[in-house]
Amino acid sequence: MAFTYFFRDQPVLDLIAQHALPDLATRRYINVWDAGCAYGPEPYSIAITFRENMGHFLFRNVRIYATDIDESQHFGDIIARGVYTEREVGRVPKDILARYFEPAGEPGHVRVCAEIRGAVRYQRYDLLTLEPVRTEVGLIVCKNVLLHFTPEQRVAVLYMFHKALMPGGYLVTEQTQKLPPEIEPLFRRVSGAGQLFQKLSTD
Ligand SMILES: C[S@@+](CC[C@H](N)C(=O)[O-])C[C@H]1O[C@@H](n2cnc3c(N)ncnc32)[C@H](O)[C@@H]1O
Repeated sequence: MAFTYFFRDQPVLDLIAQHALPDLATRRYINVWDAGCAYGPEPYSIAITFRENMGHFLFRNVRIYATDIDESQHFGDIIARGVYTEREVGRVPKDILARYFEPAGEPGHVRVCAEIRGAVRYQRYDLLTLEPVRTEVGLIVCKNVLLHFTPEQRVAVLYMFHKALMPGGYLVTEQTQKLPPEIEPLFRRVSGAGQLFQKLSTD
C-alpha cells in the first residue's frame, strides 16, 4: 500500500488556504487535481481544507479529481467508501475529526462525512501517459510522486501540468528546492520558502 496519511503536509495545506484558495474562490468552479493521490487521505485532507475555509454553498463548486496509477486496483473502492482506521486518522486534529468524520459502523474505524466524500472523484490514471485528466484546473497537487520518475519524465509531466492549469492556476509539488530549469520560467513561486507555484501565461 502507498505511503500516505491524513494532513501529511500541514504547511502546504496552510499555503494553499492562505494563497490559492482566496483567489480560486472567486471562480465559478474550482477544479483541483490530486495526481498520485494514493488511497485517499491526501485528497480528503485537501477537501477538508477547502471546506474549512468556505461555506457549504461555495464548497458545492469544488471538484477534486483524485488520480493514481494504483497497481493494487483497490484505491477506487477505498476512496469511495471513505472508511479508515482510527490509526490512519491519528494525526487529524481533534476538532477536524469531530466535524468531518463519523462512526463507520465497524469497531476502530471512522468514515469521512458525505459532504467531503461528494467533492472527491477518483480515477485510475498513469501520469506518464502525459494526457491531462482535464483542463482549466485551478490547483494541481502532486506530492511524493515525481521523485520516482527520471528527470526527463519529470519535465514532461510538469509541462503537461502547465497545460492543464487555467491561467493563474496553482501547482504544489514535492520539489522543495527548484523546479527544473526548463519549467522554472513557466511558474512563479508564490511564497519564499514554500512549494506553491502559480502558472505564468506563456503567450
Ligand atoms: C508515496 S505515494 C504519495 C501519496 C500522496 N501524494 C502523499 O504525498 O501522501 C506515491 C503515489 O504515486 C503513485 N504513482 C507512482 N507512479 C505513478 C504514475 N506513473 N502515475 C500515477 N501515479 C503514480 C503511487 O501509486 C503512489 O500512490
